[in-house]
Amino acid sequence: MAYVVAEPCIRCKYTDCVDVCPVDCFHEGPNFLVINPDVCIDCSLCVDECPAGAIFAADDLPPEYEKYIELNIELAKSWPLIQVKIEPLTDADDWVGVQDKFGELQKV
Ligand code: SF4
Ligand code: F3S
Repeated sequence: MAYVVAEPCIRCKYTDCVDVCPVDCFHEGPNFLVINPDVCIDCSLCVDECPAGAIFAADDLPPEYEKYIELNIELAKSWPLIQVKIEPLTDADDWVGVQDKFGELQKV
């Protein structure tokens, strides 16, 4: 099963994950990234690169993040591919570690 971007990414979007991914997994929304599970090869390289600790193997997702499996599938279909690291959101450091950010997720 693929890897999943979960809630800690919201409003941070550091994008360090993109640079280490050997395939084109990541899709970019306004304040969150998702992984296309059909492309992910389960290499796990992105996990340790994320400063927010936002990436998990689907099988190891904390229960409160279960809904992110479907969100990654759904949003990867409509969001554009991102293949190189970009600047994080300007207030990323203010949002890293903040709990209960689901309401901050922008889909469009
Ligand atoms: Fe890319 Fe590997 Fe992370 Fe999957 S686990 S998103 S292939 S870096
Ligand atoms: Fe998000 Fe972490 Fe990547 S914050 S953009 S999953 S490096």
